Amino acid sequence: MNATDRRLGERVMRRLDELALDTDEPGRITRLFLSPAHARAMDRVQRWMEEAGLNAHRDPIGNVVGRLACTNEAAMTFILGSHIDSVRDAGRYDGCFGVLAAIEVVEDIRRGGARLPFAIEVVAFGDEEGVRFPTTLSGSRALAGTFSRASLSARDPKGVSLGEALRSFGCDTGAIASVARSPHDVCGYLEAHIEQGPVLEVENLALGVVTAISGCSRLKVVVSGEAGHAGTVPMSRRKDAMAGAAEMILAVERQARGSADVVATVGVIDALPGAINVIPAQAHFSIDLRAPTDASRHRAVAAIEGELHSIASERQLGLAVTPNYDAAAIDCDAKLVAALSQALERQGHRPFALPSGAGHDAMAMASLCPVVMLFVRCKGGISHNPAEAITVEDAGAVIRVIRDFLLHYEVPSSKAIAHRMAAR
Ligand code: GLV
Ligand code: MN
Ligand code: MN
Repeated sequence: MNATDRRLGERVMRRLDELALDTDEPGRITRLFLSPAHARAMDRVQRWMEEAGLNAHRDPIGNVVGRLACTNEAAMTFILGSHIDSVRDAGRYDGCFGVLAAIEVVEDIRRGGARLPFAIEVVAFGDEEGVRFPTTLSGSRALAGTFSRASLSARDPKGVSLGEALRSFGCDTGAIASVARSPHDVCGYLEAHIEQGPVLEVENLALGVVTAISGCSRLKVVVSGEAGHAGTVPMSRRKDAMAGAAEMILAVERQARGSADVVATVGVIDALPGAINVIPAQAHFSIDLRAPTDASRHRAVAAIEGELHSIASERQLGLAVTPNYDAAAIDCDAKLVAALSQALERQGHRPFALPSGAGHDAMAMASLCPVVMLFVRCKGGISHNPAEAITVEDAGAVIRVIRDFLLHYEVPSSKAIAHRMAAR
């Protein structure tokens, strides 16, 4: 057990427990984008940023941004961040860990008196899970300059649009474009995150460097049939939307099982009118499909759409399939991967590289600047579950490695930046 890591990790772990109190559902952690619990969490995080010596503010898309300026005002900025929204009945580490670890690192660097040749910002993004609105990554896309204003009309299940929710949260939606950063000003992005898988634990390693992040497609499926009496309509004459949806869901699973690198999940299902003695007239379900390459993801989506249409026509059901989210797979920056691996080595860890099957704000940030991620092992690889767990020593190891990484980080030359811009 490493005593330094334990000491470094202790406050982060205490703060993660405190942040878990900001929930929309007492008794479990649910912190949806732009909810009252999200507002409370933003206040808490902003206070911690200010206590750490950062100049902090809320931006018009619901991010909290804290900045440690550089004495050279023209210097570039390195961004550290992750998200503070959560899934329903979440654990306390997914997202929040990366934000709180980053605040700890920056405070430590500031107290240590190191004069870095770049500014550092810590960003607590607000919309990474995509649970409330069919949007996702709104905060990081806004920073990267890829936020689409069309998504302001996306609606949550209660019919509230993203634009309306932002405005009642106090955000000026007219100012979202001003959040976008210039690729000339931002030199890199690093996100620390729990692994959300079992690889590091199996390898008996605390940390791993992420090389790539899978892409994701999300679709909304509406199946339409005919309502009828549960006791009188013979089985052969039914147009049961729910039974059709059940067959379709199994087709989604079969399709993913049949491809080596595709995973697909139906996480939401709903039937109307929703009565025990009425044949469902309509069924809605979601599809979340991921793959490490965009080609296999697009192939799988097309194959699933084809199967869903043939099931619908066989059962004489109506079908509408609407894609509502698409995030391309990304590669982490090779130079940052190498630099972070060297920091791991300097700090006594075996450098270990792995891909991410989960989505992260780093996917959106990759269109702005070079990105890299540091994974920390989590117990049993479990996440999106209140059983999420990490150790205080591993939390401390993350802080020590990121601090070391930043202290050794070399801002790219203007020639290297010009080269990167030309390649975009
Ligand atoms: C975020 O956790 C995602 O990958 O859905
Ligand atoms: Mn996350
Ligand atoms: Mn998550």
